[in-house]
Amino acid sequence: LKNNFYQVIVGSNILKKTKKIIFSKIKHAKKIFIITDTEIKRLHLKKILNLVPKKIIIKTITLNSGEKAKELQTINKILNFLLKNKVSRNDAIFGLGGGVIGDISGFVASIALRGINLVHFPTTLLAQVDSSVGGKTGVNSSYGKNLIGTFYQPKLVVCDINLLNSLPKRQLISGYAEVIKYGLINDKIFFNWLEKNIKKILNNNQSALIEVVKKSVITKKNIVLKDEKDLNNTRALLNLGHTYGHSMEKCSKY
Ligand code: GLY
Repeated sequence: LKNNFYQVIVGSNILKKTKKIIFSKIKHAKKIFIITDTEIKRLHLKKILNLVPKKIIIKTITLNSGEKAKELQTINKILNFLLKNKVSRNDAIFGLGGGVIGDISGFVASIALRGINLVHFPTTLLAQVDSSVGGKTGVNSSYGKNLIGTFYQPKLVVCDINLLNSLPKRQLISGYAEVIKYGLINDKIFFNWLEKNIKKILNNNQSALIEVVKKSVITKKNIVLKDEKDLNNTRALLNLGHTYGHSMEKCSKY
């Protein structure tokens, strides 16, 4: 984006290799607030902690896993925690988790002190191919899903395919459905490739998954470039399947 250039780095086992880039984007941060959930904390938090230079203070905020956490009350609790710990505008939030964690982290980063640094470490296929990229943030309301939020772009997105190894099959399939969307809305050849490679993808083949994430992110980028704020019906294409899904989730109380 013209005013918000950022990279999405995709690869397998790339956390250590991207350490330099990550901290070059948040040069003046003295504190890092990692927002994650109980499950991801157990599986992956240590990998992120190991990256952070000793002079930086780390505070971890752990939420319950699941869509129910995506509500204003959670945002309020996190904001209080940040302010209590004297967050400054140079500090950063690391969102470590799936779509729920990414949306919450982005929303908090956009309103704390009117905007602090944000880096996404998506840990699900769905978050790597969709929700971590493009700047939509927010929480659910009893009136509907994602109705409270902001557009706020991160400083960097790090998609480490290796983090998907621990993903339950159901979650991988859910992400695969999101990827099919990119084939349907944009690219017949990709759609056919996805059909042919479904076994590899669902068996966690790293090079197939890298291909899937790269292709999806590039397609999303091209659409977001044309309609960042969802104003001219172009970005609406990315909601193929979401609109219906959102209604179902709302009706079933998330
Ligand atoms: N997840 C749909 C969008 O980013 O527009």
